[in-house]
Amino acid sequence: MRLPESGAATAAPALEPLLFELARDGRAGRHVRGAENADALIPAEFRRREPLRLPQLTEPQVVRHYMHLSEINYSVDTGMYPLGSCTMKYNPKVNDRVAALPGFAEIHPRQDDATVQGALALLWELEQLLVKVTGMDAVTLQPAAGAHAEFTAMLVFKAYHASRGDGGTRRRVIVPDSAHGTNPASAAMCGFEVTTVKSDARGNIDLDALKAALGPDVVGLMLTNPNTLGLFEERVRAVCDAVHAVGGLVYGDGANMNALLGLVRPGDLGLDCIHINVHKTFSTPHGGGGPGAGPLCVKERLRPFLPSPGIVREADGTFRRSSDDRPRSVGRVRSFFGSFGVLVRAYAYMRTLGDGGMVETSEDAILAANYLAARLRGRYELAYDRPCMHEFVLSAAAQKKKGAAALDIAKALIDEGFHPSSVYFPLIVPEAMMIEPTETEPKETLDAFADALLRIADRVDSDAASLHEAPLTAPLRRLDEVTAARHPVLRWKSPS
Ligand SMILES: Cc1ncc(COP(=O)(O)O)c(C=O)c1O
Repeated sequence: MRLPESGAATAAPALEPLLFELARDGRAGRHVRGAENADALIPAEFRRREPLRLPQLTEPQVVRHYMHLSEINYSVDTGMYPLGSCTMKYNPKVNDRVAALPGFAEIHPRQDDATVQGALALLWELEQLLVKVTGMDAVTLQPAAGAHAEFTAMLVFKAYHASRGDGGTRRRVIVPDSAHGTNPASAAMCGFEVTTVKSDARGNIDLDALKAALGPDVVGLMLTNPNTLGLFEERVRAVCDAVHAVGGLVYGDGANMNALLGLVRPGDLGLDCIHINVHKTFSTPHGGGGPGAGPLCVKERLRPFLPSPGIVREADGTFRRSSDDRPRSVGRVRSFFGSFGVLVRAYAYMRTLGDGGMVETSEDAILAANYLAARLRGRYELAYDRPCMHEFVLSAAAQKKKGAAALDIAKALIDEGFHPSSVYFPLIVPEAMMIEPTETEPKETLDAFADALLRIADRVDSDAASLHEAPLTAPLRRLDEVTAARHPVLRWKSPS
């Protein structure tokens, strides 16, 4: 559903019934002569004993059902998707075409190395590209997503400290209060205690609070840079030095690497490792639980502990799976090499952009965010008033006092034809609205989005209560989000 960007509310589209509700016994999609007798061709022992309870529909019913759903849906292909922290940028379709090439899509991970040389070469070259862009030395492509890579990094840290004989004493991981929620969760899942360190008035880690929290029992620090406020950690070297001084390691959450490509290499800043959300930074359609990949890139001293196997390039130019360089590996964290199709897309994206294109990507993402922040800061409070990186955080605290909270503003954005921004994250900003425009939106769209938020600010001033009704134009109005989160109903059950 594409709504006009004028703010004119149109009627809500009708809801689409489920396939199960549309189904009638005896309807079928196939019209193949003789197909009724196909079962007879299957040996009796392989035949299904009971029929599958699938909905019975005609082919056009199924096609129309999915067409209607796609028309109701909002996606990056229909409009701007400024969901902060999620990098919902447009993904070039050519990457999907490359991933669908039979040589990639139809191979099996159990094939002999000699028969999948192209795939192994692609993965090896991808590792080299990631090494180059991060300034690290070695990579594992196995982790399935960002949070999984965080957990893998914690396993690697644990193995590193154990190899030096102080695995038993190092129990605490330091996490700034501006971190993504997955950071403390990953540390806790690995059995570590989490110490939270607050941010200072400029949105950096409070260096004094960090130093006070450090000690010989510290495993390391989990640092997001740019952090979840969209701000570059200004004293990142001093932060890393302080952690290293007590024998700790610095983990970089590189989910926001899309702001740094070709501009800064985390390996040059003192970080010991960093993960990349390739599904965000390097373009794979994501969201809604789709596949991701979170390669973990590390400095030389952590290489021996990486998940195995990796890929080596032999002197004759061939490739093979190998664990030779990982004698103290933490083991496998995912089957085979992880989300292969996502890694192919990342490779295609990086190779088509080239070094220059990647720099431009980050520069444009930063420019777009600063442009929007500049247009909006007069009407919404900018949580930390300094130049931002690829995203920024507004506070709707003043609007809340007038009667419309961040949630109301987000819902009003739907009636303006836009996907809402992230709200109530990061937690340290009251009534947070986190906006990430990405580099793929033209100026006209950025202006239309800014105009929409300014119109909403006017509405808050004149009639804040009217926002409580929003959205008026979505197929579903206000959802009971608390019940949806606490008691999710994820499967359809037959009423009979
Ligand atoms: C800063 C940050 N860290 C970690 C993650 C977790 O990544 P994933 O959703 O791939 O597990 C995200 C996800 O958006 C993020 O923004």
